[in-house]
Amino acid sequence: MDHSNMTDEEMEEMNMENGHASHTNLVALNNSTGENELAIPQLIEPKDGVVTINAQQGTTEIFKGVQSQTFGYNGSFLGPVIRVNEGETVIFRTKNELAEPTTFHWHGVDISGEGDGGPHQLLGPGAMEDVKFTVRQGASTLWFHPHPEGSTAEQVYKGLAGLIYVEDNNSKNLNLPKEYGVNDFPLVFQDREFTVEKQFDYQAVRNDDGTIGDTLLVNGTINPKLTIGKEKVRLRLLNGANARNYTFKLNTGDKFQQIASDGGFLNSPIEMSKITLAPGERAEIIVDFSKYDTESDIALLNEDDAILLPFIIDEQKTNPLQISTSLNDFAVTDKERNLSVTKKLELFGMGKMVYINGKQFDMNRIDFSQKQGDTEIWEIYNKPDAMGGMIHPFHIHGTQFKVVSIDGNEPPVNLQGWKDTISIEAGQTVKLAVKFNNKGIYMFHCHILEHEENGMMGQVEVI
Ligand code: C2O
Ligand code: CU
Ligand code: CU
Repeated sequence: MDHSNMTDEEMEEMNMENGHASHTNLVALNNSTGENELAIPQLIEPKDGVVTINAQQGTTEIFKGVQSQTFGYNGSFLGPVIRVNEGETVIFRTKNELAEPTTFHWHGVDISGEGDGGPHQLLGPGAMEDVKFTVRQGASTLWFHPHPEGSTAEQVYKGLAGLIYVEDNNSKNLNLPKEYGVNDFPLVFQDREFTVEKQFDYQAVRNDDGTIGDTLLVNGTINPKLTIGKEKVRLRLLNGANARNYTFKLNTGDKFQQIASDGGFLNSPIEMSKITLAPGERAEIIVDFSKYDTESDIALLNEDDAILLPFIIDEQKTNPLQISTSLNDFAVTDKERNLSVTKKLELFGMGKMVYINGKQFDMNRIDFSQKQGDTEIWEIYNKPDAMGGMIHPFHIHGTQFKVVSIDGNEPPVNLQGWKDTISIEAGQTVKLAVKFNNKGIYMFHCHILEHEENGMMGQVEVI
């Protein structure tokens, strides 16, 4: 079905039916009361080249004294941080211990289509699969989550998500906070809606334009606070929500430095007073707590001033770290800039009526092909509708791309780095330089997970 020729009246009617009007009045997030110290996921590394990852179900005490039914990797809720090094060959030994099919998708990882864990790589209950690959990308904060057709959104919502840290010689040598859980913290932001019994009831709260909730979990912790030292601290932010955008800022109005985008370091730290991440996006930031005294009231807020994460400044640190000023050598080359557009994608719609080039996902249809190692320019246009339209965070599997332009202009400096997901506003056109280093079939889709489930996804075959 192609809806691009609908009249404005027809569109409006469709929008009202889809509840679009109500969705734009986002459910507000509750403030974190700072009652609970933030959970720090377990950090795991390959042993003899193998990392074991089990998808499980279990119960978790999210609210004191209440057991909630949850999903997790290697535990009952969420997952570990898997740390790997560039150049290393790794086997992810995956096992599905759920009572339903799942897949293990490595979001942002340069990996073959077969190993990518898209909807084609379905594992039934009890099934195991070894995914072997060599880490061929630089230092970055990536993540993993399920991708079975029709239940990605629900499985993520219930707790299936973890992080992957890639380290390389550069990241090891740079002057950056890098002590895991001491001055280098993963922060996975997800908003959820709980039933009165404090359970997830995904089907009851599911929204076709993206399921949002009033309750924030950071690393699965409700009402979190983070105790840190009086020093420079690195926060690796992941928007792991199904649909909500977060705009992070400090309550003091002070600036922080962004050092990395989705797929690696920016060329140099960038001073920012706020940063917006759409679902699927990551950023690494440095906050300088050395300039505050221990009594200070410091917190990470959302755009609307909701308190996301209060900080407790704990101890005196004496050796101040000078953050490296040169972090990477990322560039969009002249050659890439001069390439003509070879793939055009039009994102359109909302609710159940979401399309890429007028089509919805079909597992048996390959939408594009591309040659391994060739760089092509993908032009993505987010076509507005009668009500304006929505932001669609556009993601491509199996690679990191470069943002060449946004509406013909140079992208903001914090998007001048490796990306695998880009937030595209209604009316915007972005040009991406896309290269796949491996072969296979890869998904591209909107990372509002319910849009993805509703068919805002296509497939590119790399040959
Ligand atoms: Cu986070 Cu299809 O991906
Ligand atoms: Cu992905
Ligand atoms: Cu979307």
